[in-house]
Amino acid sequence: MGKVVAVYSMKGGVGKSSLAVNLGWEAVRASGGKVLIWDVDAQGAASFLLGETGAGMALSPGGGTAKKIFSRDVDPADVVEQTAYPGLDLIAADLSLRHLDADLLEADRPKRLRKLLARVADDYDWVILDCPPGLGELSDQIFRAADVLVVPVVPAPLALRTLEQVRARLAETRGKKAPPMLPVLSMVDRRKALHREMVEEHSHWPVIPMASVVEKMGLERAPLGVFAGKSSAAAAVKEMWKQVGAMVG
Ligand SMILES: Nc1ncnc2c1ncn2[C@@H]1O[C@H](COP(=O)(O)OP(=O)(O)OP(=O)(O)O)[C@@H](O)[C@H]1O
Ligand SMILES: [Mg+2]
Repeated sequence: MGKVVAVYSMKGGVGKSSLAVNLGWEAVRASGGKVLIWDVDAQGAASFLLGETGAGMALSPGGGTAKKIFSRDVDPADVVEQTAYPGLDLIAADLSLRHLDADLLEADRPKRLRKLLARVADDYDWVILDCPPGLGELSDQIFRAADVLVVPVVPAPLALRTLEQVRARLAETRGKKAPPMLPVLSMVDRRKALHREMVEEHSHWPVIPMASVVEKMGLERAPLGVFAGKSSAAAAVKEMWKQVGAMVG
């Protein structure tokens, strides 16, 4: 069964979706295997960033199917789409996921996500989850389902505080069974003294630089490796993927 990498943070707007897409692409490049990106965020950012299918059709047509996966009315394997990149598949998100946290709580099935993942993970070497921000039922289920948590953290004291809140919840819910967590310093601007200090202080954490090529993913609707493979941000993704592999390989 493929390993599950959850790109997760309690905070919003820290670079999760961009990183999920870039890690997915890098995982295919590095392993030559099959990788699934599963977008579980109603915003559908990862689905959008992955652009179009190999057949030239827009990914993520919407239609409310995403929610039906979680109510078990739709088999996740039936809604997998091929992206334009061989080896990289997607389960797209749509707005029907906007109450996913509440829906899961109501269903009262704490292992629902874990079991759904087990249904698809056999067909892949890696499954990358693009998670919505928050700390609730869905994140508890993510903590039960993931083999590793990749947590983008912006270089700011409040962000570190939030990371500790997540760490505490993870320990509370999973204890010794908690998946390992890899914090990643995200959107780092080395011109800023505070950012440099944070990088020094957490020298074992991967660093993703603040870079306009990452923003450009939204225009290109493609992973960094496709249109800016030689950028320092792409190199940083490559480097951090090695670290992820070492943690769960
Ligand atoms: N390393 C980076 N350098 C510059 N801009 C970035 C970087 N990473 C992400 N961004 C930009 O920041 C914004 C938020 O990124 P992204 O959507 O990946 O974050 P997110 O954590 O998934 O957000 P949300 O919590 O809303 O899901 C986007 O406009 C994206 O282009
Ligand atoms: Mg996102």
